Amino acid sequence: MTDFTTLTGCRLPIIQAPMAGVQDSRLAAAVCNAGGLGSLPAAMLAPEQLQQQLDNLTRATSKPFNINFFCHTPPEADPVKEQHWLSLLKPEFERLGLDNTVNTSGPQRQPFSDIQAEILEPYRPAVISFHFGLPSKPLLDRVKSWGSKVISSATTVAEARWLETQGADAVIVQGLEAGGHRGHFLRPDLEEQQSRNTLLQQVKEAVQIPVIAAGGIASAKEVEAVISQGAVAAQVGTSYLLCPEATTSPLHRDALTQARDNPGSRQTVITNLFSGRPARGLVNHLIQKFGPINQEVPDFPLAAVSIAGLRAKAESQGQDDFTPLWSGTNLSGCQDISAAELTQLLASTITRV
Ligand SMILES: Cc1cc2nc3c(=O)[nH]c(=O)nc-3n(C[C@H](O)[C@H](O)[C@H](O)COP(=O)(O)O)c2cc1C
Repeated sequence: MTDFTTLTGCRLPIIQAPMAGVQDSRLAAAVCNAGGLGSLPAAMLAPEQLQQQLDNLTRATSKPFNINFFCHTPPEADPVKEQHWLSLLKPEFERLGLDNTVNTSGPQRQPFSDIQAEILEPYRPAVISFHFGLPSKPLLDRVKSWGSKVISSATTVAEARWLETQGADAVIVQGLEAGGHRGHFLRPDLEEQQSRNTLLQQVKEAVQIPVIAAGGIASAKEVEAVISQGAVAAQVGTSYLLCPEATTSPLHRDALTQARDNPGSRQTVITNLFSGRPARGLVNHLIQKFGPINQEVPDFPLAAVSIAGLRAKAESQGQDDFTPLWSGTNLSGCQDISAAELTQLLASTITRV
């Protein structure tokens, strides 16, 4: 019985990272059925979609699963800032033959609230994970009263300590290598954040709760390495993006495949242009033109709305110019193989020990 099995009930110490926008319950169920902890990202799901996805997930697996939410504070609308950003983007709208009015039809990112808790309660997930901190104390107490274990990402030692003090059952160390949004919530300075192994070592010394390693883990050898450094499990995102069970778009799959096969051809960078919060993805036109970090961008998550029209038009023409191509720095594990196969592959060295 490992610490991770005790914590989650899972056989393999592999967490398929929740990845909003590129997966649904199908990927999560496939990983759960293979013995890992599959995750359903719920940050971009409307309440009725969350209900549907939970039904699908629990029909597809009887194993423990993780449901993931964001905990950001939605910003006040700032029409002046939004208009200014749109005026900077005007040449891009003109190039695509669009007027630069805001298209609000895309999915929005909502923080965890009583609405989602109400839907979630009957399912009592083994694990609930959060990004950008933790929800309010009453909400946290509510989900813990179901017996769900609560985990959340830390990008610094201070965040790991904070999560432990607030009652998290385990902490995910998110190294700078990680794809998608940086999970920071105490301070926004990227300079204070570290690569996975350095942070893992420091957090292991700073907290008593179990530590999970994330960021750039793409092989059985790397899983074994983080476990030998004291992590109870590895949380892996980017490597699952090419699995047939993921909903990763063809444009995103092509960009990942090209970057994997031609190292150096297309780098990943941390950018705030797509959502208003720093996140790691492959360089594309928007980043080359305005970023990677731009202080004029509307606050998270409003920036996604500003470029929604540009993104939709470019994608309809087969262009990834405005598409967030989230990816971690290590693409070597991206393969068009089933999620079950990938999960077993990642765990293959430790299960032999
Ligand atoms: C496409 C993509 C989407 C992501 N979306 C989420 C999310 O919705 N919630 C979350 O907690 N983490 C999200 N992450 C971050 C992961 O939890 C994790 O930190 C990261 O994938 C680990 O690094 P790796 O991608 O190098 O394996 C996302 C990562 C990627 C690549």
